[in-house]
Amino acid sequence: MKPTTEPRTPPNTAPKTYRVKSFGCQMNVYDGERMAELLDEKGITPAPEGEDADLVVLNTCHIRERAAEKIYSDIGRLTKGKTQEKAPMIAVAGCVAQAEGEEIMKRAPAVSMVVGPQAYHRLPDMLDKAVAGERATDTDMPPIAKFDALPKRRKSAPTAFLTVQEGCDKFCTYCVVPYTRGMEISRPYSDLVREAQGLVEAGAKEITLLGQNVSAWSGEDEKGRAVGLAGLIRALDRVDGLERIRYTTSHPADMDDDLISAHGEVAKLMPYLHLPVQSGNDRVLKAMNRSHTADSYLRLLERFRAARPDLAISGDFIVGFPGETEAEFEDTLRIVDAVRYAHAFSFKYSPRPGTPAATMEDQVPLEVMDERLQRLQAGIGRHQLAFNEASVGKTCEVLIERKGKLPGQWLGKTPWLQSAWFEGDYALGDLVTVELVEANPNSLAARPLVKVTA
Ligand code: SAH
Ligand code: SF4
Ligand code: F3S
Repeated sequence: MKPTTEPRTPPNTAPKTYRVKSFGCQMNVYDGERMAELLDEKGITPAPEGEDADLVVLNTCHIRERAAEKIYSDIGRLTKGKTQEKAPMIAVAGCVAQAEGEEIMKRAPAVSMVVGPQAYHRLPDMLDKAVAGERATDTDMPPIAKFDALPKRRKSAPTAFLTVQEGCDKFCTYCVVPYTRGMEISRPYSDLVREAQGLVEAGAKEITLLGQNVSAWSGEDEKGRAVGLAGLIRALDRVDGLERIRYTTSHPADMDDDLISAHGEVAKLMPYLHLPVQSGNDRVLKAMNRSHTADSYLRLLERFRAARPDLAISGDFIVGFPGETEAEFEDTLRIVDAVRYAHAFSFKYSPRPGTPAATMEDQVPLEVMDERLQRLQAGIGRHQLAFNEASVGKTCEVLIERKGKLPGQWLGKTPWLQSAWFEGDYALGDLVTVELVEANPNSLAARPLVKVTA
């Protein structure tokens, strides 16, 4: 693809407004929020909805195919038909920046800054350079440094993300994450407890602990004892004003007994577990370099369900991994039936440059992948609906996250992360006790019983 515009020439005017567009996983969303705060501190304000921004940060994801092409077309859209004075200044951040930063600088002269996911704390300095007309790339991977540079939180929504762990050493053969996010690191316990307290003070009622491999988090508590994720969850359980704790994404290899017990013991820990399996076939799992078998995964889930019988289980699946046969794919359908997922994400295999699977033989044709994905999603959908139907008649709390489409209507999440909607005189962040009255494939209708908190 050709460069989209001529290179920017100095001097560039300092941007007054910005927009951060985040793609990909929740960790990217967390990073995007932190970049926004860094820009706020610099006195730049978010562009009002529907208006052009002076600075656009494209916070990219590299997990799917054509991720880079999408960035180039976004850049094209932002700059098309505009003179340099009118075109926004563009920063490319996130995982595509990490993987293809130099290429982006060469191909898209309209881009002023390329900043990798571990370097975004340097964005304000890079911006100063960009205003002086200098294009800058920073894809260093200094562990943890970005977290030390976090500015003060602005007002938080009822739900907040908290990145506790980053990076991945698992090297599943299809996956780019170890290359874009680097090796596993855990943020220190005391920083996290402090950050969680800050989030709650800013208005969060629910915190989701994030990590590419969140269950591999480890640290030392205030007494210097080694603790795993369950220890951190127990510490957050003691944070006044925090009502709900969730965590994602876990890897079956790093789930320890303490985390399983925590699901039975910690009231604030929600009954929901996202535990990707990827395939139900042991040969495919081995070729993927997943360290579990279908059977070990099922046994692990049994232990979680013994600790918390109403646990909602979610997962990730890939169909059409190189060499996957029809019979092997059917094992995946079988594991879906065995687990009875409340929810799951499913993807067609996408060869990612630089990963071992991309050069494996027997790449599965697209039509076959399409057909398998449809059958898989039909299976997941059946279990999801059954899970929602089984919830009808239950009484539970719903945390209001946003307004519904109709006046007086509210949308929130049940403890099992189902979307539930109801009407009444409430406000964002209210925790409302409801009875679930009607199930749909993707949501439930609810009837409020009493108002618990204002
Ligand atoms: N660390 C998490 C999630 C990683 S990315 C985990 O290991 O579970 C989220 C999901 O994207 C993965 O679980 C996988 O299902 C999917 N994914 C990753 N690379 C992919 C690829 N090359 N093709 C298709 N799906 C992929
Ligand atoms: Fe990717 Fe595997 Fe690491 Fe998950 S565990 S981020 S799928 S390499
Ligand atoms: Fe995508 Fe990077 Fe997350 S590749 S899924 S944004 S870690």
